Amino acid sequence: MSGESHHHDHGKAQHTHGHGPVVHGASGDTLAAYKQAYEAAVPHADGSVVEVELEAREIDWELAPGVRTTGWGFNGQIPGPVIEARVGDVLEVRLTNRLHEPTVIHWHGLRVPAAMDGTDMVQHPIAPGETFTYRFTLPDAGTFWYHPHMNETVQLERGLYGALIVRGPNEPVLDAERVLVLDDVKLDRKGQIKALGGLIERHDGRQGGTRLVNGKAEPTLPMAAGQIERWRIINASSARYVRLSIGGRPFTILGTDGGLIEAPVRVSEVLLTPADRVDIAVGPFTEGETIAVEALKYNRMTVARAKNESFATIRVGPTAPSRAVIPPTLRRIEPLVSGPVSPTREIHLGVKPSLRHGVNFVVNKEPHHRDKPVKVGELQVWDVINDTMMDHPFHLHGFFFQVLEVNGEAPAFRSWEDTINVLPRGRVRIAWVPDDRPGEWMYHCHILEHHEQGMMGHFEVVPA
Ligand code: C2O
Ligand code: CU
Repeated sequence: MSGESHHHDHGKAQHTHGHGPVVHGASGDTLAAYKQAYEAAVPHADGSVVEVELEAREIDWELAPGVRTTGWGFNGQIPGPVIEARVGDVLEVRLTNRLHEPTVIHWHGLRVPAAMDGTDMVQHPIAPGETFTYRFTLPDAGTFWYHPHMNETVQLERGLYGALIVRGPNEPVLDAERVLVLDDVKLDRKGQIKALGGLIERHDGRQGGTRLVNGKAEPTLPMAAGQIERWRIINASSARYVRLSIGGRPFTILGTDGGLIEAPVRVSEVLLTPADRVDIAVGPFTEGETIAVEALKYNRMTVARAKNESFATIRVGPTAPSRAVIPPTLRRIEPLVSGPVSPTREIHLGVKPSLRHGVNFVVNKEPHHRDKPVKVGELQVWDVINDTMMDHPFHLHGFFFQVLEVNGEAPAFRSWEDTINVLPRGRVRIAWVPDDRPGEWMYHCHILEHHEQGMMGHFEVVPA
């Protein structure tokens, strides 16, 4: 019937341009949940479908002029392309794996359906040569990122990561915006990425001596005098804590993992653990200044010693007009909890002695801990307790939380987070509510070496 085909042409399917979900090897529940999530991804009223093709493959990576190494990147670049969209858009990403090993992509910080979370809990690994399509709606504005969730200590270390920016309707208007993805790599004498190794690296996490901003070693960032820029910063490194300083000058925090905070906060430094994001307003500076963007010494109790280290240098050029306005109120964040609460769950980050490895990193005494399910709509108050003598960045997949207490004290401001540092022997109390996205989820330490060893938990979100 012609009516049928007319309907078909203008239905949901048109956005896929004829290439529907491509799934290999998936079966049963996994496939059904995937198909359902795929079909349910429809743009909001004024939204559109943002289509992105990604190809993971080996590339010739120029870290600095004349310094080349073999990396793995998306679309021949490190970081991968910045994916930009608006709240209410659908993001459809077709990932083709041209690596020699399987991969999957995790959408770090995004509230996607479980089936689109890009872990091996919810999908089959994408084998070399295969293509897989992720498709989901973007409910929140913020600075997010994407990275493999398989053999991460190799795949991220070699350069597979990228920024994902979702813009909201009421963003502050500054003079310019930059996305800065921080990373580091460990090179051998031939300038190649060193093979993973050693007990210290297993313990501390891999920290390389070559510090990168957007895939380049200690670049110069030209900036106009008199202007205020919005910097969206992502720490994509395996284990490095970045206690960010901009030449000791004050700057303004606008947002964190889960988007804007309630009001701008003036600081002179901010800590980004691995996987953390922060949006800041930087400047204005004066023509002729050079300002160091650096990581101040942060002692996370590793075997290796901490020191101040440079990431980039701002070179301030001629003055340009400014129209930047930082409003005194950025948005309202309703507190999930008011008054005293008791935790519904304790999560212990720990170590276990190991004959082969010295120690193994675990949750509640076991590697890859199976945790109790949570119910849609039921307030979660979790105490994340660090039983070890070093810092761990705790990351929850797929849901934002509010931090209620850090070592018994309320944080300086309210925010939505997906990653929070837990100090040695420290305790962080978080609150979150599982919205209606049932399925398999996880949390873990985002020091990739710890994650790999099993400092993680799996749990199910079950319907109410
Ligand atoms: Cu960036 Cu499982 O995380
Ligand atoms: Cu850890």
